[in-house]
Amino acid sequence: MRTQIAIIGAGPAGLLLGHMLHLAGIAAVIVEQRSPDYVLGRIRAGVIEAGTREILNAAGLGARMEAEGLVHDGIEIAFDGTRQRFDFHNLVGRAVMVYGQTEVTSDLMAARRAAGATTIYDAADVTPHDFDGAKPSITYRRDGITHRLDCDFIAGCDGYHGPSRHAVPTAAITQYERVYPFGWLGVLVDRPPVAPELIYARHSRGFALCSMRSATRSRYYVQCAADEDVGAWSDDRFWDELRRRIGTEAADTLQTGPSIEKSVAPLRSFVVEPLRFGRLFLAGDAAHIVPPTGAKGLNLAVSDVAILAAGLRDYYHDRSSAGIDAYSAQALRRIWQAERFSWWMTNMLHQFPDMTAFERRLQRAEFDLLRDSRAAAQAMAAMYTG
Ligand code: APR
Ligand code: PHB
Repeated sequence: MRTQIAIIGAGPAGLLLGHMLHLAGIAAVIVEQRSPDYVLGRIRAGVIEAGTREILNAAGLGARMEAEGLVHDGIEIAFDGTRQRFDFHNLVGRAVMVYGQTEVTSDLMAARRAAGATTIYDAADVTPHDFDGAKPSITYRRDGITHRLDCDFIAGCDGYHGPSRHAVPTAAITQYERVYPFGWLGVLVDRPPVAPELIYARHSRGFALCSMRSATRSRYYVQCAADEDVGAWSDDRFWDELRRRIGTEAADTLQTGPSIEKSVAPLRSFVVEPLRFGRLFLAGDAAHIVPPTGAKGLNLAVSDVAILAAGLRDYYHDRSSAGIDAYSAQALRRIWQAERFSWWMTNMLHQFPDMTAFERRLQRAEFDLLRDSRAAAQAMAAMYTG
């Protein structure tokens, strides 16, 4: 088989790239290791930046998001029980959209089906080849048969564990990483959210987050050990711990219920440079990870793909390599800004095992600055809303 762009991975990055290329009349085949149900079963964050919303709408993917998503004009930070609202609308004239990544993925899958484009699911041993030369390809196994897909370029959209990044010789790639000494224990529940906007809570027992998926479905998190055993957390234990961290007013109005999903996620900051190796591009989680505190993961994947798709459009339509040549540097500027923001927010709000009294006082000073300085709050709001 032959195509113009072979995309590895059908997460948000791979599916959106496929869709944008389709709009530009460029052929792409997506090869994915898992089944569609498995891809849709993964629970991820749900905050869409203003810029991401514009990109999805411009690509004709926004109809359900605009109808069902919740527009949020601000967030709250609960610092040791005291809640402070940050009004994004007032600070920077922007808002975010709360709409689950699962829904974005489902909309992307529907668009791909409508376009009649090829996605190969349940593909094993997906391997990129010869991307340092003029004739790259990928191979994969399906139903016991090895297949080969020849292409002009390979897009590695295969997440943190995927094969694309690992196919690059170590001498050609630089990795930057910070692993945080804790995780987030998340619960999904069919109960209305405790408050109309997200509450990020800093507490001496650890961080907590009150988020939502809709007016009737909520998503809550508490900071836990990186290797926490989910089995040790009954629903009652989770709700008790959450209540202790979010301040009495929120604790008193919290509506609890049986969890419909419960899982632990590690926290990591990670970037590789560059994002292009000959005819292989990396995009999304294959190239970078942010801790979920700033809700940037999906948004960064979308901005990478928007830049890459524009470059490929110029390459095929105008015979110009300028866009694909600039992809890595252009995407990395934005990636490092999101890395800085996510790291900063994580530091301000979490308990670190080896934290000194001095560092705890600095967290307080950071929060006081946000509360008392409009300039500081504006900088935060500008980064959060994107
Ligand atoms: N072969 C084929 N596909 C693979 C392989 C492989 N060996 N390994 C991984 N994949 C697939 C995964 O199954 C997944 O569907 O690549 C896809 C990568 O998707 P994501 O992990 O969702 O990454 P990305 O599309 O970059 O989206 C980034 O998702 O992980 C969140 O927080 C992140 O919100 C961000 C967004
Ligand atoms: C979520 O709803 O899952 C969520 C929201 C905001 C974050 C992280 C996760 O910062």
